[in-house]
Amino acid sequence: MIILKLGGGLLTDKEEEFSLKEDVLERVAGEIKEGARGEIIIVHGGGSFGHPLAKRYALQDGFKDERQLEGVVRTRAAMEEFNRAVVDALLGAGLRAVGLQPSACITCRGREIDRFETAGLEGFLKLGIIPVLYGDVVVDDKLGFCILSGDRIIARLAGVLGPERIILGVDVDGVFTGDPKRGEGSLVEEVNPGNLPHLLDNLGALDNDVTGGMKGKVLELAALAHEGHGSQIVNAAVPGRLKKALLGEAVKGTWIAPGNYEGVF
Ligand code: IPE
Repeated sequence: MIILKLGGGLLTDKEEEFSLKEDVLERVAGEIKEGARGEIIIVHGGGSFGHPLAKRYALQDGFKDERQLEGVVRTRAAMEEFNRAVVDALLGAGLRAVGLQPSACITCRGREIDRFETAGLEGFLKLGIIPVLYGDVVVDDKLGFCILSGDRIIARLAGVLGPERIILGVDVDGVFTGDPKRGEGSLVEEVNPGNLPHLLDNLGALDNDVTGGMKGKVLELAALAHEGHGSQIVNAAVPGRLKKALLGEAVKGTWIAPGNYEGVF
């Protein structure tokens, strides 16, 4: 089994609300069709469907004010629209896929996943159908609601299902020591317990989205690597790279190596 996360920044233009990169989505769906063998679960991020609304209504802070509820329902609706587009692209590529709404099968407690009903998801997988989940706004028993990132969902799914591989398709070559979009820093080919602390210091200043940008992603993946699940970040905006990664061929990117990360974060 492969768990594949498609970053919101890969599929949408983060500068402009609700802007789908249709050409990228179509190509990515085609690469999944050509590269995927066996069971695969797809989780996509929020991109410009989720982050601007979540930020505007301060959803990451939890329930503080009645007016935020408008943001909760609008974010949910926007994410369903985005998910519909992703599933349609997969269907268009000749794959069998169904969208699964995270807020209907997951609740959190203090932003951590508390309950996750995976029976439906596992049932679809057994049938040979690809479940397609996404970062969402979900009920939180402590905070009222919270923003749950797609990265957190894949981390939990990996723990429960034990996939052979975890791949994150994003729009940069991997983890950098600076901001790659400004041509800063160099690619880190492997993240391990030895280099993570220094890396986190560098990544600290780069975040802008409600779920912590690349730093949030690396932290999430390091926690997963601590549980024994290595993962691979690849640039799916470069044609052919995602397909190669899915086929298990060597590609440029960052490998988050399994290891003992205790005390590192
Ligand atoms: C965020 O999910 C979900 C919402 C803002 C509703 P992610 O954190 O996984 O999204 P990306 O990949 O960074 O866009």
